[in-house]
Amino acid sequence: MKISIIGAGYVGLVTGVCFADMGHEIICVDVDQEKVDKINKGIAPIHEENLSEMLKRNKERLTATTDYSVALSQSDITFLCVGTPSRSDGSIDLSYIEEATRFIGQLIKKWHLVVVKSTVVPGTTRDIITPLLEKVSGKKEGKDFSVAMNPEFLREGKAIHDFQYPDRIVIGTRDKKSNDLLKKIYKGINSPIFTVNPTVAEMIKYTSNALLSTKISFANEIGNVCKKVGIDVYDVMEAVGMDHRISPHFLQAGAGFGGSCFPKDVAALISFGSNKGLKMFLLDAVMNVNDTQPLKMIELLEKHVPHIKDKKIAVLGLAFKPDTDDIRESRSIPLIQELLDKGAEVSAFDPIASGNMKKVFPHINYPSSVAETLQDAMGCLILTEWEEFSHIDFSPMQKPVVIDGRHIITSQNDIIYEGLCW
Ligand SMILES: NC(=O)c1ccc[n+]([C@@H]2O[C@H](COP(=O)([O-])OP(=O)(O)OC[C@H]3O[C@@H](n4cnc5c(N)ncnc54)[C@H](O)[C@@H]3O)[C@@H](O)[C@H]2O)c1
Repeated sequence: MKISIIGAGYVGLVTGVCFADMGHEIICVDVDQEKVDKINKGIAPIHEENLSEMLKRNKERLTATTDYSVALSQSDITFLCVGTPSRSDGSIDLSYIEEATRFIGQLIKKWHLVVVKSTVVPGTTRDIITPLLEKVSGKKEGKDFSVAMNPEFLREGKAIHDFQYPDRIVIGTRDKKSNDLLKKIYKGINSPIFTVNPTVAEMIKYTSNALLSTKISFANEIGNVCKKVGIDVYDVMEAVGMDHRISPHFLQAGAGFGGSCFPKDVAALISFGSNKGLKMFLLDAVMNVNDTQPLKMIELLEKHVPHIKDKKIAVLGLAFKPDTDDIRESRSIPLIQELLDKGAEVSAFDPIASGNMKKVFPHINYPSSVAETLQDAMGCLILTEWEEFSHIDFSPMQKPVVIDGRHIITSQNDIIYEGLCW
C-alpha cells in the first residue's frame, strides 16, 4: 500500500520504516529539511536500535520530502505523527496537528484515509481534526474521506521492536472501509487488534500512560518511606510484583520518569479533566512526586558534602532512559538546575545524549569519559541506568560519595554509597 507519514520523528520514522519493511511504499513528510536529507541518505536522524539498518534496507520503499503535495498525491492513506507538546499550563498544544491537518485538507482530491497517530486528548479527532479537514477540503468525512485514530505505544530505545511486536493494536474508526484498510496495513503483525471509536482510542492511550506514570510515582513514594527506615524498596516491590493482579513492571523506584510522553500526557490529562470541571487528585500527586524525586538526590548528597557551592559535582546519565539520546523532560534537567542554583560546578557525562543536553545547559562541562567527569569531583549523582554505569571505577574521585538514582551500582567497595530509595 502507498502510505504517507506526516512528521518523521520517533513515532513517524519508526512507523515508516516498519511499514516499509512489511512491503508498503512510504513517503515521510517533515518540515525539517535536515531531517529529510538525512533520511534520504539512509542516515537515522535519531538514535534508535536497528533504525539505521532498516532505513538502509528499505531505501527503495521509503523516501522523505518537505512537500505535502508530493506525498498526498502518491498515497491513499496518511498517518499524522507530528508532536503534541504541552503548553505552559500543561494543556495539550495542538498547533502542529492543526497546521498539518490544514495542509492535508487542501490536498485531498480522491477518497483518502487520514489516521491520527499522535497522542491527542479525547474528542480531538472528532471535534477538531475532522471539522478542520472538512472546512479546508470542502469535502465530507465518511463520504469523500475518512478519519481514524490509531494510538502508538512504542517505547523509545526499543521502538522498532515494540512496533513489530506490540501487546495490542488499537484502531479507532467510524466506518468499515477504514477499519478494513487499517487491518490490512497491519497484516503481518501478530497481535490482538482492538477496535473502538476514535474517542475511545484516544482515551486508551492517555489511560495507559497515566497508569504507568502512577505506578512509578507510587513505587517512588513507597521507596522514600523505605529509605527513612533502612529498607531496600526493591526487596519490597519484588514480592509485591509477584501478585498477578499487580505485575512487576514499572515498580522500579528511582529518580522519576521523564521523556516526551509521560510528563506531558499526564499534564494534558489533568488539564483535560480540569476543563471538564474535574480535579484530578491522584494525577496531581503523581506529578508532585515526580517533580520532587530527583531533588531528593541532592538532599542525600548534602548529608555527606554539606556545602556544594563551588564544589565539582559529577552527573552521570543525561538521557531520560538508556538506549536513547532523548533528553526531553529527563530528570537530570531539574537536578542540574538545582545544583547550579546552589552554586555547584557541574560536570556531566552521557554515552550519547551530551550533545542534546548542551542545548539546555551550554555552560557546564561535558568531558568525553566517565573518568574525566569524576576526576576530583566531590560527589557523583547517577541519573540514567546505562549498563556501562554498573561497573564504574570511582577512584578518580578524592573521596567518592555516590548517590545512585537508578539502582545501578552493584559493587560498593571504598565508596560512600547512598541509594535513593534503598
Ligand atoms: N516518542 C515516543 O516515545 C512516543 C510514543 C508514543 C506516542 N508518541 C506521540 O507521538 C507523537 C509524535 O511524537 P514524537 O516523539 O515522534 O515527536 P518528534 O518531535 O520526535 O517528531 C515530530 C516530528 O514532526 C515534525 N513536524 C512538526 N510539525 C510538522 C508539520 N506541520 N508537518 C510535518 N512535520 C512536522 C517535526 O519536525 C518532527 O520531526 C506525539 O503526539 C507523541 O506524544 C510518542
